[in-house]
Amino acid sequence: MLAGKRILLIIGGGIAAIKVPELIRSLRGQGAAVTPILTAGGAQFVTPLSIAALAGHPVHTDLFDLTTEAEMGHIQLSRSADLVVVAPATADLMAKMAGGIANDLASTLLLATDTPVLIAPAMNVRMWEHAATRRNRATLAADGIRFVGPNAGEMACGEFGEGRMAEPAEIVAAIAAMLADGPLKGRHVLVTSGPTQEPIDPVRYIANRSSGAQGTALAAALRDLGARVSFVTGPASVPPPEGVTVIRVETAREMLAAVEAALPADAAVFAAAVADWRVANAAGQKMKKDGKGSLPALEFAENPDILARVSQMGAGRPGLVVGFAAETHEVERHATEKRARKGCDWIVANDVSPGTGIMGGSENAVTIIDAAGAEAWPRMGKAEVARRLAARIAGALGAG
Ligand code: C5P
Repeated sequence: MLAGKRILLIIGGGIAAIKVPELIRSLRGQGAAVTPILTAGGAQFVTPLSIAALAGHPVHTDLFDLTTEAEMGHIQLSRSADLVVVAPATADLMAKMAGGIANDLASTLLLATDTPVLIAPAMNVRMWEHAATRRNRATLAADGIRFVGPNAGEMACGEFGEGRMAEPAEIVAAIAAMLADGPLKGRHVLVTSGPTQEPIDPVRYIANRSSGAQGTALAAALRDLGARVSFVTGPASVPPPEGVTVIRVETAREMLAAVEAALPADAAVFAAAVADWRVANAAGQKMKKDGKGSLPALEFAENPDILARVSQMGAGRPGLVVGFAAETHEVERHATEKRARKGCDWIVANDVSPGTGIMGGSENAVTIIDAAGAEAWPRMGKAEVARRLAARIAGALGAG
């Protein structure tokens, strides 16, 4: 995916630097050439020798390294890459970037470069939320610097919150999206996929037969057109595609939270088969047979309708919202009604009645319902449906 791409990787001084070897391995595995730059702080966490060995390239560590300067000036170094990546980007490095300070090799390269820059911030949650960092974030975003992460979670310092560096796979996905050439380059598309699982007790759940195959194929097709894809998936039976940001969830409510966290997006496609109901009286402990034949009485509560919520959100609504409709009869009529009820732009409707073999199968026959009416596509492989749909999405975003 990254064959022939040259990445200048600036490694800042944070504990997240220990994830950088995995990042380098993954980038090289995809065919990219990595030129590493280690700040003085970064060298406290990873050694120049190990980074050079993994990158297969000498590490640049000091602005006044005269040998390097004679071979290749820092200006040239900063411009010889297709992309500059800063991982981890510390609060200090971000402040220097925002302020235009150039007092070491890393900050000088960042000031001298005219190459696109992607940063993967990592810091303590209070530093991330500090007014100064917020100002710097806004400045960097306005300067066209792209961000991946940080994620929320437990931190090395024992606190919990936003500030963990994005996982190497997510950073690779963001890099691939920035370097991809295609009509959706620079666009962010959200895709939900798979079934949801709604617990009955800690070991049992209610689910459905969705394999996640169509949503997965669609995410891959959107990625192939250059989009940055956030893929929110329930427990599917097919693996998620590479080169997309994967957010795994189990329940409908988790899926809603993940979707809201992944917005804003240029387009959102809801291919997941979300459970309509969850068990309202799910047990905290495994339910036991009492030996007298008593049966559990499950009560249900309605799950949030993620598609309807996103379709009907005012500010921040994606420019294009696409829903799916799996129907077993009167497909077009039901799908047209569904489009109106949910408020989405398109409905991709398919007939999943038992004889069709579509649910869990490799083929699909869909009808696209939009404001102009219905467009029936012939039966074809799910990958082909995905490619056509991705192209139609690119067209609707004015990117086709
Ligand atoms: O109402 P129905 O489940 O048939 O609608 C299907 C469409 O709505 C799909 O796009 C599905 O992903 C989405 N949906 C949702 N949240 C729900 C139920 C359905 O996003 N709770």
